[in-house]
Amino acid sequence: MGINILGMGSYVPEQVLTNDDFTKFVETNDEWIRTRTGIVSRHMAGWEPAWYMGREAARRAIEKAGINPAEIGVVIACTLTNDFLTPSMACIIQNEIGAVNAAAFDLNAACSGFVYGVDTARRFLDTDSSMKYALVITSEALSRFMDFEDRGTCILFGDGATAAVIERSDKLYSSYLGSDGSGAQYLYARSLRVAPEIAVEKEFDDGFEVKDNMHRLIQDGKAVYKFAVNALPSAFEGAAEKAGITKDDIDYFVPHQANVRIIETAAKKLGVSMDKFIVTLDHYGNTSSSSIPLALNEAIDKGIIKRGMKIALIGFGAGLTYGGIVMEY
Ligand code: UT7
Repeated sequence: MGINILGMGSYVPEQVLTNDDFTKFVETNDEWIRTRTGIVSRHMAGWEPAWYMGREAARRAIEKAGINPAEIGVVIACTLTNDFLTPSMACIIQNEIGAVNAAAFDLNAACSGFVYGVDTARRFLDTDSSMKYALVITSEALSRFMDFEDRGTCILFGDGATAAVIERSDKLYSSYLGSDGSGAQYLYARSLRVAPEIAVEKEFDDGFEVKDNMHRLIQDGKAVYKFAVNALPSAFEGAAEKAGITKDDIDYFVPHQANVRIIETAAKKLGVSMDKFIVTLDHYGNTSSSSIPLALNEAIDKGIIKRGMKIALIGFGAGLTYGGIVMEY
């Protein structure tokens, strides 16, 4: 069984931080950021809650899809920056949008979130014939978890939200999801402050580094880079092989938007021209779970991705996680 993305919506906060803005608080420059990452600017949520951004995106997606929110059977919110440990972001948004007949839960697969979320939605629709629509939301307020003294990470990330109303269909669809928890320490943020002296006591020692600013995102950029340049092509190949198609059948690849050099290397490995890759990281930065759907929705709005085209959504992220979907839009 395949799916149809009936309608999508995006929301990014108004505030924009350019590369030059970062020179005010870390030793960096526009040239380094552009050439090493491809990023030029990104949106910042400030204290705008992640659930609020997600709700705005959800309202737009529902309006585009032209459906009644009461017909949504499941709300899946993909996020690693929920405003609360509990309740879930999905429950808050479910109430805000009037999805009164929906189950609701959050899904944390970091930057692979949208791929995992769409695939989970498809499985709900496949196994429950009474369910008409699934709503997959992504919302990230990553700036709240940034160490703005760490120039190696703070320049990379941005904030934003998306949503997609999904229904079942008989269109082409195949997925390939995976994880490698042995790389968990390459990219992490603690959810609770833990006193360092307690965290490092042997019985509590989880092996993750402890810093003063413990809930900040900590990354080994080089290790993630190495993982990413293999994860992107293999996530695509895993999904394509299952579907019995090849790279030549794909009209557009929509990869996770972390670093343009990662995308270029993946394109080269796959033997696919960069013209077939949607790149929006120059103006969004890395928005984690929102990165693939922000790029997808922008390409749809611009008329680049059209109905009937075959697309590949390919992601990787903390966990470590990876995932690919090939589908007809
Ligand atoms: O969603 C998944 C998220 N993460 C990723 O996908 C990250 C993957 N990794 C990357 O994208 C890259 O590794 C980074 C962009 C994070 C770093 O690029 P790099 O080419 O691996 O640089 P590097 O870490 O090797 O640093 C090279 C130099 C260092 O200086 P020295 O030691 O050579 O003197 C850094 O201190 O660049 C320096 N540097 C900077 N300089 C100016 C690091 N960050 C900056 C900066 N501005 N913002």
